[in-house]
Amino acid sequence: MLSVTDLHARYGRIPILNGICLEVAAGEFVGVLGHNGMGKTTLLKTLMGFVPAERGRILFDGVDVTHEPPYVRARRGLGYVPQGREIFPGLSVRDNLRMGFVGRGAEERIDGILQTFPRLVPLLNRRGGALSGGEQQLLAIARCLAGNPKLILFDEPTEGIQPSIIEELVGVLQRLHQTQALTIVLVEQNLEFIAELAKRVLLIQKGTILRELQPRELRQARVLSEFVGVDRA
Ligand SMILES: Nc1ncnc2c1ncn2[C@@H]1O[C@H](COP(=O)(O)OP(=O)(O)O)[C@@H](O)[C@H]1O
Ligand SMILES: [Mg+2]
Repeated sequence: MLSVTDLHARYGRIPILNGICLEVAAGEFVGVLGHNGMGKTTLLKTLMGFVPAERGRILFDGVDVTHEPPYVRARRGLGYVPQGREIFPGLSVRDNLRMGFVGRGAEERIDGILQTFPRLVPLLNRRGGALSGGEQQLLAIARCLAGNPKLILFDEPTEGIQPSIIEELVGVLQRLHQTQALTIVLVEQNLEFIAELAKRVLLIQKGTILRELQPRELRQARVLSEFVGVDRA
């Protein structure tokens, strides 16, 4: 479904992505793990088209999207839940959801999506900015679903979120993957979260994919200190 070859990107003169290659099959749940500044967000922004690819190729669903603008990629079914959530703080929860829609039938579809997010139902008329971090994260995911994606790119959904909602997020992502057959790419620094969800994990370091691991390998001390920057006794 997603095939990335030799992807390069830079900010000004500073190279950030240095030849990323990755393959994601339809229905897969793939994690990308790496610590701060390794290029995780830049990778997702380049996949979406918010950062131009300097070199390399991005195939989505068999189509070369490398030079397409973000809205065209979104229409093709590439969904994105950005780091920091980026909901509209001044709009109501319901209007935030409406912003995610492409085409007609918004109200019925909102009702359908809300079944996966019962926590948002009593909040529909509240301003997005008045929600907790966790609730905003759920809203950002729900809004992304409104665009009817086939594959969703998640950028650190657990960042700054209280543990009780992290558990709920695990459930939401599992349901999207299993019952709605969504393909998921999850970028994280949260090892436990990624180990619980992803079926395989790519380690990113300095803008390249260093190696691939099975989730159970993530907890090995050597892997932790070498690739994730976590030291555990
Ligand atoms: N808009 C930007 N302009 C210049 N440099 C940036 C910009 N965004 C990120 N960077 C730099 O690019 C590198 C990779 O950042 P990023 O992709 O956000 O990493 P991660 O998401 O893994 O923390 C970092 O060194 C960061 O400081
Ligand atoms: Mg980031």
